[in-house]
Amino acid sequence: MNIAIILAGGKGERLNPKIPKQFIVVNERPILYYSLKTFNNNINIDKIVLVTNKNHEKETENFLDKNKFNKIESIVFGGKTRKDSVFNALEHLKENNVNSKDIIVIHDSARAMIDDATINKCISKAKEYGASTAAKKTTDTIINSNGEKIISHLDRDFLYNVQTPQCFRFEIIYKAHIKNPHLNSTDDTFLVKSIGEKVHIVLSNNSNIKITTSDDIYFFESYLKNNKKK
Ligand code: CTP
Ligand code: MG
Repeated sequence: MNIAIILAGGKGERLNPKIPKQFIVVNERPILYYSLKTFNNNINIDKIVLVTNKNHEKETENFLDKNKFNKIESIVFGGKTRKDSVFNALEHLKENNVNSKDIIVIHDSARAMIDDATINKCISKAKEYGASTAAKKTTDTIINSNGEKIISHLDRDFLYNVQTPQCFRFEIIYKAHIKNPHLNSTDDTFLVKSIGEKVHIVLSNNSNIKITTSDDIYFFESYLKNNKKK
């Protein structure tokens, strides 16, 4: 079974301190709608665990009243950090007798332009190898700096932007969290690498950005216009 964990437990403070970005409406729908719709309609996704922010229960209720997704099987409250939010969803699955071989597909709801091809490739790599992530080859020149001066240039041929979805066999991602309760991490591949597992890369499409600032909203609006996706 392939189970998606859709993360919408954040506050979206960099975009708008008043309302979490997942509830910001773009083209008549909240951002969360677009990620959920793609996962709900994906033929390889069997069920969805939606992670939400406890302080925004009302918004979540309103959202789910208006938008029905038949594959959502449970709603879990997120934690203080993204890592805590993922762990809450994993614990929920564990308590509900998830199979250790099930593939867990973790996705930032803020990556609303995710496409089926990336999801499908990510799942099939995780089935084959145990762990995979979407990623994009870096196009900028990247440097090390102390904030004042350049310290060194990194070789761009070996640099990638790590994205989601990130797909793991349950036994691997659960062990990675259990073994690293104090490790701070903004993504799950770091934890999985730390327990010695190899993570395979799936090159994503160019639009799989994480909506973070208002510029990203303009990008998303034009993406929707061009793709007539609603
Ligand atoms: N997320 C989560 N629980 C948290 C923090 C983040 O589920 N405690 C989710 C967000 O909802 C988002 C994804 O993880 O879909 C990636 O995080 P990020 O882009 O940093 O979102 P926010 O934390 O909401 O934004 P910000 O950092 O600007 O406050
Ligand atoms: Mg954040």
